Amino acid sequence: MTEPKEKTPETTDHEWDGITEFRNPVPRIFKLSYILTILISVLMWVLLPSWPGVRDIWPGVLGYSSRTTVLEGVEEAKALRQQASAQAGARPLGSILFADNCAACHGYDLAGQTGFPNLIDAAWLWSGTREEIIATIRYGINTDHPDTRYSEMPAFGRDGMLPRAELEAISDYVASLSGPAPDHESAAAVAFDENCSACHGARGSGIAGSGVPVLDDAHWIYGGGTDAILETLHAGRQGVMPAWESRLNDRQIEELADYLIGAADAQGS
Ligand code: HEC
Ligand code: HEC
Repeated sequence: MTEPKEKTPETTDHEWDGITEFRNPVPRIFKLSYILTILISVLMWVLLPSWPGVRDIWPGVLGYSSRTTVLEGVEEAKALRQQASAQAGARPLGSILFADNCAACHGYDLAGQTGFPNLIDAAWLWSGTREEIIATIRYGINTDHPDTRYSEMPAFGRDGMLPRAELEAISDYVASLSGPAPDHESAAAVAFDENCSACHGARGSGIAGSGVPVLDDAHWIYGGGTDAILETLHAGRQGVMPAWESRLNDRQIEELADYLIGAADAQGS
């Protein structure tokens, strides 16, 4: 029986006190990848910001910078946000709020209806500045709010201030004011001057921002026919615009004001 001959592995020929070292080289694939990583790292030093220089770090041939990447990301997010709000702008918050809260009285087209003023004509009762519109929406007109706007057309007939015949003549005169040839010399014109112009301005031309309607234009809250005018003179008018302070927040009220201003501008008024 012969012992199977043990295969002696190759040694490195180094020998220390009878101890030899086997030759066990690193597999070629490891050696190659080691060399490759070194080459890649050299390539990276060249391409990307790496070694400190005298003034600044080596910026790299590609000019890459993580700070620029972050800034670009921020810009991109900003652009997306702008795009989103521009899309929302197609249906501004103001128009949604208006449809929900105001259209029942002022109409979905903002053009008003009998008793409720048109909000896109040139005729602002309370001047069309942003502050004034905000105040009107916030406090209302003829409401119980302590800061309410107040507006009342006296009941000349019912309260016995002027006789019926005179009111009829004045109504005809008022109806003629927006027509081609009002007669400013008539007795009715004189009566108007005495009884009405303090609030409605000379010849009904209005007093800007007082809340009192102009009478010599084509815009009417209650109607420009003689009958409607006579009814106004007889029974008076005191339209109520609700106060929205407790129902809408500041931002919503401002959105509404901007929406009204935008809509009025779009009408060219
Ligand atoms: C219940 C009916 C009603 C509702 C609802 C209503 N309004 Fe009015 N609004 C009126 C009346 C009536 C007037 C006119 C008051 C008067 O006779 O002076 C008015 C007047 C106004 C005016 C003043 C116009 C001018 O020429 O100066 C503005 C502005 C206005 N409304 C905006 C709004 C907005 C915005 C909303 C919704 C948040 C709204 N209104 C909801 C009834 C209403
Ligand atoms: C104390 C101020 C005041 C006096 C005086 C006054 N008015 Fe008025 N008048 C108003 C106000 C305020 C309104 C708006 C009421 C409302 O919107 O509810 C109005 C509304 C009217 C309207 C309705 C306008 C519309 O757009 O439908 C007519 C018409 C009118 N007045 C005519 C007259 C005539 C004519 C006289 C004189 C006989 C007169 N007023 C005197 C304050 C006055």
